[in-house]
This record gives sequence, C-alpha cells and structure tokens, in this order.
Amino acid sequence: MNSRISHTIIYLSIILTFTGNLNHKKYSMLANQSDDTVNKKVDSLMALMTLEEKVGQMNLYNGFWDVTGPVPKEGSAKTKYDHLRKGWVGGMLNVKGVKNVRKVQKIAVEETRLDIPLIIGFDVIHGYKTLSPIPLAEAASWDLVAIEKSARNAATEAAAAGINWTFAPMVDISRDPRWGRVMEGAGEDPYLGSKIAKARVHGFQGDDLKKDNTIAACAKHFAAYGFAEAGKEYNTVDIGTSTLFNTVLPPFKAASESGVKTFMNSFNDLNGIPVSASKYLQRDLLKTKWGFEGFVVSDWASINEIISWGHAKDKKEAAKIASLAGSDMDMEGYVYIQELVNLVKEGIVEEVIINDAVKRVLKVKYQLGLFEDPYKYCNTKNETERIGRKAHLYDALDMAKKSIVLLKNTTKLLPLKKEGQKIALIGPLAADKNSPLGSWRTASDDHTAISVLEGMKTYKGNSVKYAKGIDLIIGETSFIKEVNINTTSRDGIKEAIEVAKHVDVVVMVLGEHGFQSGEARSRTQLDLPGLQQELLEAVYKVNKDIVLVLNNGRPLAIEWASENIPSIVVGWQLGSQTGNAIAQVLYGDYNPSGKLPMTFPRSIGQIPIYYNHKNTGRAKNVENNVFWSHYIDQENTPLYPFGFGLSYTQFAYKNIIIKGSDFSINDAVNISVEISNIGDYDGKDVAQLYIRDLVGSVTRPVRELKGFELVLLKKGDTKTVEFVLTKKEFGFYNNNGDFIIEPGDFEIYIGGSSNANLKSEFTLR
Ligand code: NOJ
Repeated sequence: MNSRISHTIIYLSIILTFTGNLNHKKYSMLANQSDDTVNKKVDSLMALMTLEEKVGQMNLYNGFWDVTGPVPKEGSAKTKYDHLRKGWVGGMLNVKGVKNVRKVQKIAVEETRLDIPLIIGFDVIHGYKTLSPIPLAEAASWDLVAIEKSARNAATEAAAAGINWTFAPMVDISRDPRWGRVMEGAGEDPYLGSKIAKARVHGFQGDDLKKDNTIAACAKHFAAYGFAEAGKEYNTVDIGTSTLFNTVLPPFKAASESGVKTFMNSFNDLNGIPVSASKYLQRDLLKTKWGFEGFVVSDWASINEIISWGHAKDKKEAAKIASLAGSDMDMEGYVYIQELVNLVKEGIVEEVIINDAVKRVLKVKYQLGLFEDPYKYCNTKNETERIGRKAHLYDALDMAKKSIVLLKNTTKLLPLKKEGQKIALIGPLAADKNSPLGSWRTASDDHTAISVLEGMKTYKGNSVKYAKGIDLIIGETSFIKEVNINTTSRDGIKEAIEVAKHVDVVVMVLGEHGFQSGEARSRTQLDLPGLQQELLEAVYKVNKDIVLVLNNGRPLAIEWASENIPSIVVGWQLGSQTGNAIAQVLYGDYNPSGKLPMTFPRSIGQIPIYYNHKNTGRAKNVENNVFWSHYIDQENTPLYPFGFGLSYTQFAYKNIIIKGSDFSINDAVNISVEISNIGDYDGKDVAQLYIRDLVGSVTRPVRELKGFELVLLKKGDTKTVEFVLTKKEFGFYNNNGDFIIEPGDFEIYIGGSSNANLKSEFTLR
C-alpha cells in the first residue's frame, strides 16, 4: 500500500497514544500542546517511523550549490541524495527556485517510505530578490509597520521560490560595532529589539502559516552571539545573568511570545558552555520556562564545533550533549545522522529525547501545510508573478527612505535646491550598484541596486558631475569571499579635486562596501576604509560645502568628518532602491526621520559604548582630579548617541504630565507630553521615553528605553502623545533570572534621542 495512504488511514482510524514519556523527569518535553489535531497527526505518523527515520527528521542538509558556511568534508551530493531517498533528511537549506525545490521535495514525498515532506530553509534576511535595507538600517526607521511589511514582502517572494522557512529574524543585541553581524540585527537596545523582533516574526509568518505566502521564521542566534569577545566573529562570550536576562534575552522572549516557529542556536560558547550544548538555554529556559513549542535548529555545523570548543571529545559525545541539551536539528554537521541512532541503541540517549525533537519538527511541517500539499510553495505561476513585483520595489523604496538618518546639517546644505545648482558627486560608492545591496543576500541579482548617481540624475534641474576619486576594493567580492580593500592608487584624486572646485555642493558617497559587514566581517578599525579619508580631506581643502553620505553596515567612528563636514547622512546599505531613496532625502522630497539604533563611537577605544550603561560609583568629575570614571585621552560621550537623528525641521518637547501621583507597583502610570514642529518643514519625529530606576537591588542603567511613538507633524503643529508604563516596563531581571518589580523613585525623560532632557519623576510604592 502507498505509504501516504497507510499513515493517513492510521491516524484517521486509530487514536494512537504516543508512548514516549512526555513528562520525563530529567528532561522536560513538549507537552500540553495547544493544537490537538496536529499533535494526533504527528503522534500517529511517529508511530510508523523507524529510529533512523526519526533521526533523519533531525538532519538538515545544505543544498548542492551555494554554501553559507565552511564546506564540510562529508556530504557529497551522492550521499545527500542517498540519504534523501532513505528518508534520512528532515530539511534542506540553500535550495531555491521552484524547479530545484520541487526536485528534492519530490524525492522526499515520492521516493521515501513515509513520504514526509522537507522543510526548506533559506537566509531571507532583508528580502529575497527585491532587497530592502539591511536589517540594522530598517531598525533605524523605528517604524514597526514598515518593518513588518518588509518581512512580509520578503516572505512572499521567498515562498514563491519554493522556500518555506527563513533563518530570520536575527534578534541578537550587540554593543560592539566591530562585530560585522550588527548589520543583521536591530542594534543595541532590548526594548526596540523586542518590538522589531515581534514585527519581523509576524511579517514572515503572518496570521496563517497555511497560506502560500507565509513562511516559518527563526529567531537567532540563541543566545548571546552579539557579545562575542572583542567583536571578533565566532568568539567566546562571558557575560553575567543581569546582561543575559535584561539585555540579550528580551528579543528572543518577544519572538517566542509572538509565536515564532523555530529558534537557531549560536556559534559562541556562553560562560564556558558552547551554546549548542547548553541544556540550560535550550531545554530549561526556552522550552520549559518559556514554553516554546517549536524546534531549535543548530547553526551551521555548530554541533560539530562543540568538539573544537573542547567540550566534547568526538562526534558521538557532541551528538549526545547537543541532543540532550535540546538542539533538535543538526544543520550541515553530519553529527546526528552519524551518531544518534547508535547512541539510542546503546542506551546513552533515551528515545524520548529523539521523539521530542522529531515531534517538534513534524509539528512545524504540519502547521506549514506541507503534509496537505508538499508542493504548496512550488508554483511556477507564483514564482513568475510574485518575485520582484513592482509593489515590492515601491515598499523597498519607502522602507529605504525611512531608514536614513541625518546626523548633521549645520549650514543647511540640505535639502538641496532643485534647480540651478552645480553638484559634484564623488566617491568610490557613488556609482556602485552592488555594494548598496548589502550583505546577506544570496538570491538577488548582483549589481542591481539603483546607485546614488542614478538616483541623483532623476532630478534634472541641476548639473551633476561624477568622479570616483579612488577605488574602495580590489576586484569582485561576494558573500563568501574575503573583501580586499588594500587599494593604493591615488590616480583619480586629482580629477575629484578638479570636479569639486567648481561646484556649489559636493556630495560624497563613502563608507563600507556592502560585503565589509555581515558574517565573518569583524573589523578592528571603524574608520572610512582604504583611502577614503584621504580623499575626503583632499576634497574638503578645495570645497567645504560637502554632504557626506555614508554607506555602512555598522556604526562608524568618523570623528574628523563629524567635526568638519557640514552635512552627514547615514545611508547604510539600503537595498534595491538605494539611489532613489538617497536622492529623495537629499532633495527634501522625503524629510529624514531615522534614529540611530546603535551608538556611534568616537573611537574604537570607547567600545563597548551604549546608552543604557551603568552610572558607576564615580560618574562625574566633582573634585577636579583624576579619580573618576573616564579616559584621559577622550571624552565619555559618544559621537552620536542611540536614538539620535535630525530632521529638516525642528521639534520641541514640553509639558510632561503624569496622571495621578500615588502609584503602587501594580498600577499603570499614564504619561503625556506635547510635541511641536517648530521648524520650516512638515516632518516626523520618533518620540522616545526613557526611565531611570534610581535605586535597585541590582544596579540599574542610567536610562532605559520604555516607549516610543512616531509622530507626524505639519509645520507649526503640536500634538500630545501618551505613554503607559506598567510592571513590564518598571521591572527587571535579578541575578537569579527572576523578573521583579521594586518600589522606589523613577525618573523619566522624553524627547527625540537617548539624550532627551525633558524630565519628570514618579514614585512606586
Ligand atoms: C551561519 C549563520 O550564522 C546563520 O545565521 C545562517 O542562518 C546559517 N549559516 C545558514 O546560512
């Protein structure tokens, strides 16, 4: 009998009690599932599975073409096909396009004994073919609706290409811009990070995973990867409970509460335990305490790397530790598939552990509707119609404009006049069509971004002269290739100077190439790479009216520019529509409203530098001697703080009103503030509310973001904005990882950045 029919009959006719011990004493298992029908289906299917087939569901193979990690020694295409046919593969990653996905799915559902469909994963990080700004840039918009829409469009395109699972959102908080992967997250703040995590999860997954344009999301990298020591990729992490619970975990918890279907663990160790081996994080905290019902996938061969970390002596031990710890699926590590069956047979790993993992994986496949139609995502009509849609490009442009941050505009060079001006456009990134697409894109076409030059040329009223000046990188680079920035030729600088001499405004597009940030792109310098600083200063000597447009995947330490250049715009890597977005902002057709999601340091020596730091015991220089918390060679303040960003107009905040006065820790505190647009343009500000808990049983940060709202104001208008603070905002995690609320005095600050100085206070009894 056809195996699909056979297991259908079984789950229709028999109410099979799953025999695994769900309340196993040592290892808390998936229990009390909300979705009973799915559970029954999963249980009945599992009753038919051999141990080998179960372990197969815990095995995730990379496709046969692209790699997004080191190429493993094992795993020829032949082995993979062979395993696929045996039903020993639960999912594949980096297989894309309806034709290719259909090919592997067909093997899974037509050639294996039980016909269990594959889950197909892909790094859909900031778009599939149509690229939105890099995630850090999107975070600068603080616009949760737009961010959700961006994820939704990404899901629509990916789903049309056969993909049903994205390895996103990355919700790692990081305070270290040396770490290249900050481009992939939402910055330094757990509150903003949690809101964005929720928006992205909902964007990818929508309200109904059964639809053919929604895909399962994956909160990664669980946990603390963003705290890699010295910002060095794949490095050790040693942080305390307070930072773990108050800073690192909140966005993961938010993702879990938003119903994210999967988590990915991380490459780092955490306080001595490689994360894939951490039972505490995966099984005890995530699955038991938080009640997460989905599955945890390892990062690329991270189970294997438990051996390199020196925490397991061989693959057998790594497989044992990781499975017991709650890593449910092994990504391209060949550890589970080679070791788990024997480990169970030898009685070293109990089968309930395997059952729990498999149940989680199968459940997500059911929720995706793959058992009803394994080819649900393999529709060529959708592939043609939905990928690269005009509407997606329109949304990408909207998102890109919202992501731009204006750092400086002292002489009001911006917005540019639309007519009669001579403009020089200078810099190695000004005409680049590849770099602005950013890192972490493996499905889009190279060299397809609208360059800044192209964007500027759509405005016909001015003359634009372009000079590259210098090269930024040598040769072509890609997601998997080291970037060679060792350029030495100064030949073009002369021409750039000549062009700059005779114009009204110079727009310089400088910064990092898109592939200088992302995975494995840690930097020890945060300046303008290569000869760009030299070019900037050479041009400045002949024309000081410079608008510096930064391209960057992380905060940069640009102290000289910040002191000397009158206008600075953070242009990140804004994706497919980069040039149009930049031009529309420079010309004032969009009034910039972005706010930094990460502090810009003055120098590398200040790192880690973040707004929600502790006060220390010696915060101020009160006696005019040296004995206070500072550097002798640099001030404590950052170059630009978290939450900072200007507009072409100005906003004034006044009149904080706290309704009521006698609050207990159970009360809600309602706060309002007035915001006025006192400048010359209509505009939007992000009103931000910070609290300071003055005395805590665990020391509290000097400020913590606890509310924000985007406020659109016509010039001359005033609006009242309301915030509500409750336990969730007053409380914090103590050093046992318990959430507590303590009575006491609180200060609040409201304004347009983390430096806001409009202040009020209240007391909680
Ligand atoms: C390694 C990265 O750390 C992870 O984020 C990504 O999803 C996988 N490779 C798969 O490409």
